[in-house]
Amino acid sequence: MGDSPSVSFSVSPGGRLRGTVRVPGDKSISHRAVMLGAIADGDTEISGFLEGEDTLATLAAFRAMGVGAEGPSGAGLVIHGVGRDGLSAPGGPLYLGNSGTSMRLLAGLMVGQAFGVELTGDASLSGRPMRRVTDPLTGMGAVIQASPDGTPPLRIQGGAGLRGIRYAMPVASAQVKSCLLLAGLFAEGRTCVTESAPTRDHTERMLQGFGYPVSRQSGQVCVQGGGRLTGMCIDVPADISSAAFFMVGAAIADGSDVLLEHVGVNPTRTGVIEILRLMGADLRVLNERAVGGEPVADLRIRSSSLRGVRIPEDLVPLAIDEFPAVFVAAACAEGDTVLTGAGELRVKESDRIQVMADGLQSLGADARATPDGMLIRGGGLRGGRIDSHGDHRVAMAFAMAALCAADTVEIQDCANVDTSFPGFASLAREAGLGIRVQPESHG
Ligand code: S3P
Repeated sequence: MGDSPSVSFSVSPGGRLRGTVRVPGDKSISHRAVMLGAIADGDTEISGFLEGEDTLATLAAFRAMGVGAEGPSGAGLVIHGVGRDGLSAPGGPLYLGNSGTSMRLLAGLMVGQAFGVELTGDASLSGRPMRRVTDPLTGMGAVIQASPDGTPPLRIQGGAGLRGIRYAMPVASAQVKSCLLLAGLFAEGRTCVTESAPTRDHTERMLQGFGYPVSRQSGQVCVQGGGRLTGMCIDVPADISSAAFFMVGAAIADGSDVLLEHVGVNPTRTGVIEILRLMGADLRVLNERAVGGEPVADLRIRSSSLRGVRIPEDLVPLAIDEFPAVFVAAACAEGDTVLTGAGELRVKESDRIQVMADGLQSLGADARATPDGMLIRGGGLRGGRIDSHGDHRVAMAFAMAALCAADTVEIQDCANVDTSFPGFASLAREAGLGIRVQPESHG
């Protein structure tokens, strides 16, 4: 988070990735497991929990609202649910660090409480758009205020009576959808959210796992307010968004062969597999199985020569967090890659279109930012220095870029890698990446 000591990565060029890798637990599922576990009746036992700064921020928020929890320890966590009306007023603002998911989902949950609360975050989160949640929540009767430009902090007044809403989302966002469904649990009547394109559906699946009825039909999901949740056991699969760095690393580095174990392959998240396959990646999905309502598989990826592609726009929401890694694959491929319809990337932890285009250019690539995407002419990379702008996924993507670079890649401002992927550098080093972590010299 903002106050972590700064570190940079220095990654030697070349090398290859090999072996069996299990990346940490899914961030989206870990957040939701804590949130739903907290308002359920009885205990929720979570295994595979992501001990990243983002999910720990969510856990700390619920502890501040009186929720007992044991752990996390060895990725195990038990949440002692307080029931739907059992949360208590925290002693001060809830600080959510870098985590947009914590802020947007909690906003939905908090507007239904009897007490008021303030949600704050670090510099990156404090610049991210919140009207996408405050507008529809206000439409449900919530009293919620952002800063004048629609960014955090969010100030929520308790005790507002909520009514259900029918809402067609102007942007395809799982965070907005989940926020409204969570508010809908506390609203009178029915809340229905329509999405123009499928987005990750972990909230819907997990609500059903907690015994809460959810009705789903093409592009629309509805909940009826007033029900209760029952604690459950949740096995969190490895995060496909973290696995994506190893997929790309193995695809671009000659002689690579990596098996990624127990990865969540929910069809609303597998856009990266489809895009890499379109580019010619040798990627196999093995041992597909269902684990606690979520599909899981092992992924084997071996190096192959990649070609540039025009990325189908319908894959954008299904790969929304994986574009930093995909851009690196495109720069190492032969031919042009064109991405359109991805303007949302400009409002993630950083402006991922600009920051990635700038970084790729620093490594000698022909990459041009467009308002809603990027044009990348493949052909390999030289070495250079990158500013990750504190964006975890930008930092990890450029670390993997060294595998197809001619010289060392130095990446600055990498402390936030711990928000989603604690242990990234050691796991990547074990697999063969020549990565060193060093304290940032200019503090
Ligand atoms: C998330 C949804 C996505 C994603 C984010 C996590 C979630 O955001 O980028 O990292 O857990 O619901 P949007 O739904 O706003 O695109």
